Amino acid sequence: MNLLAIESSCDETSAAVVQDGTRVLSNIIASQEAIHSVYGGVVPEIASRRHLEVVLPVVEEALSRAAVSLDSIEGIAVTQGPGLAGSLLVGISMAKALAYARNLPLVGIHHIEGHFFASFLEHRITFPFIALVVSGGHTHLYRVDGVGRYTTLGQTRDDAAGEAFDKVAKIIGLPYPGGALIDKLASRGNPDSIRFPRPLLHDGSYNFSFSGLKTAVMQFVRKNPVPAESEALYDLCASFQAAVCEVLVEKTRAAVRDTGIERLVVAGGVACNSGLRSSMSSFAREVGIELYIPSPVFCTDNAAMLGVPADFYVRNGICDGLGLDARTVWSLDSLAGRIR
Ligand code: KG4
Ligand code: ZN
Repeated sequence: MNLLAIESSCDETSAAVVQDGTRVLSNIIASQEAIHSVYGGVVPEIASRRHLEVVLPVVEEALSRAAVSLDSIEGIAVTQGPGLAGSLLVGISMAKALAYARNLPLVGIHHIEGHFFASFLEHRITFPFIALVVSGGHTHLYRVDGVGRYTTLGQTRDDAAGEAFDKVAKIIGLPYPGGALIDKLASRGNPDSIRFPRPLLHDGSYNFSFSGLKTAVMQFVRKNPVPAESEALYDLCASFQAAVCEVLVEKTRAAVRDTGIERLVVAGGVACNSGLRSSMSSFAREVGIELYIPSPVFCTDNAAMLGVPADFYVRNGICDGLGLDARTVWSLDSLAGRIR
């Protein structure tokens, strides 16, 4: 079964054709990074206008790269939320128009659900598993017992991990989004040079907090200048990244230990981070669990990831009507009602 998936929740317009929930026939991503970088963050109004300009060509490109026509598409999947209202609406309107014109089943997918199923595009994974989703908007730990069967274990109390990376990048004068740049600079520094705080590390919960860490970096930089291309800058990036990674690993360790689940999926844009990838690998090896982290193209926002849960929903007749609307705020736990 070929599904066409559309993702437009933030600043990437993406369309993909996914066969049988795992085979990616195409995955086109039009990034708006360069447009928003001038403003130091995503400007919602500009994002939705840009989605509108590119959504049709992106969908056409996805069909053409997959070498399929609309005639062989059997269902439409779209990110329903959470995300920016104007951005979500562009993808949803496109998806609804296609579903209506072709009389195809339409299914709205939760953005985070897409993220943690991205690993299924490259690996066969059995349930249950623990999912750590770390992106620009989310830092969540879930227990996943099946499609639509999710339990939130913990989440950030303030900034998301990606947001902390981007804010620290801004503090040290890097362009938005700075996560990947910090990663690059960190590879040249000493992670033990500055002891930044590890928020909520031993509070006994699975929750996170990154805003205090960001403030600690800001205060450090005020007292200790970090010129561009300096050892001091590399050390700061490495030390900040080490603090974030340690908290992410230790909270995940607690979730794995307490649930006894031996499979771990790490997903979302921050899962591209080389420090996180290597510290999660060491942790998985140490405790003897299976670890799945998608290739970087499936970590950041993309439409192919939606194809995995969408395939399950469409096959089981769990679809949405044309009344489907954007859900800017949407708890993943509420999806349980979908599966009976
Ligand atoms: O999943 P994603 O593409 O979009 C959201 O749903 O938010 O994640 C984007 C986030 C940004 O905050 C970006 O700075 C961060 O992922 N990111 C990274 C790296 N690559 C992307 N953070 C740290 N290291 C990286 N290599
Ligand atoms: Zn995302």
